Amino acid sequence: MDRLLDADIDPAPLGGKRIAVIGYGNQGRAQALNLRDGGFDVVVGLREGSASVAKVAADGLQNASSPQEATTGADLIMLLAPDETLAAIYAEIEPVLRSGAALGFSHGLAIRFGLIVPRPDLDVFMVAPKGPGSALRSLFEEGRGMVGLWAVAQDATGQAADIAKAYGRSIGCGRAGLIASTFAEECEADLFNEAAVVWGAVPAILEAGFETLVEGGISAHVAYLECVGELKLLAELVEARGLSGMREAISNTAELGAVLGGARIVDDRVRDTMRAILAEIRSGAFARNLSIEANTGYPLLNQARRAARTATVEAARTALAND
Ligand SMILES: NC(=O)c1ccc[n+]([C@@H]2O[C@H](COP(=O)([O-])OP(=O)(O)OC[C@H]3O[C@@H](n4cnc5c(N)ncnc54)[C@H](OP(=O)(O)O)[C@@H]3O)[C@@H](O)[C@H]2O)c1
Repeated sequence: MDRLLDADIDPAPLGGKRIAVIGYGNQGRAQALNLRDGGFDVVVGLREGSASVAKVAADGLQNASSPQEATTGADLIMLLAPDETLAAIYAEIEPVLRSGAALGFSHGLAIRFGLIVPRPDLDVFMVAPKGPGSALRSLFEEGRGMVGLWAVAQDATGQAADIAKAYGRSIGCGRAGLIASTFAEECEADLFNEAAVVWGAVPAILEAGFETLVEGGISAHVAYLECVGELKLLAELVEARGLSGMREAISNTAELGAVLGGARIVDDRVRDTMRAILAEIRSGAFARNLSIEANTGYPLLNQARRAARTATVEAARTALAND
């Protein structure tokens, strides 16, 4: 594994460059502030009427009137708006991208699935921090950093890899480790984890476990404490000691239950479903669904958010918090 730390990375390729950050949400705000604190010349580009303008002003950053204005004269442009909006943003800024400029991403989707086909005279790179922007920022403020993956999709100037690594260093990833990857690998692994592991399967299994206990006559608050409340303990143990150390840290009773039960839940059918999800991601089916969802006003996401807010498990959490 090629894992770079600050001392391995030359910051010079970013020296004196003007950086435009398009989007000021989770990643945009964190990366722009980390860059600003590192002494870089940063300008933020937002769409007309954007609710984020006030946040940019409150943080004391320079705000352009549009993504196109921010891009004009910039040497490096980071596309940090939602993935499903990036193709339209690229179409808007392409006419003003100077030849030899670097176009940066924090996720591989737009390039992996051809939603954006960058002009050949541009460098195209990715630095994908492996965690939320809020943590990228707070770690940076503490003098620490977050692991990130970096990759180059297009090297027009011969400098793309050096720019990518210097960029990763500038937002703090070199403090924790900057690991070489590709747009395809980062994208496929990230989408897979979101759908089939941490963000898709884990919440679904917590809720199913909660409902099974309640259906079996256990009170909602006890079911919640068991099935949802202990997740933080698991995460902390896994982070500190790994999966095997976590198993050894719990009681023999818990460990035997985990060994016998875990393998029954994650059986061959679950593994086949995981393989099917990976195949759908690689075929582009998920990326197409994301575009359809965005173009039709996010009907599935809106419905899922409404259902999650009114679920029994959420009522149990509220009751525990208010008691
Ligand atoms: N979330 C994470 O922590 C995370 C982690 C790793 C990588 N990434 C990647 O980082 C990128 C950004 O993700 P994110 O979660 O940070 O996005 P996000 O928080 O959803 O981005 C919201 C920002 O984008 C702006 N925006 C929305 N639509 C826009 C448009 N059409 N034109 C211009 N600006 C627009 C919003 O402004 P308005 O106020 O105008 O809506 C807001 O400032 C994605 O590629 C994502 O995959 C994210």
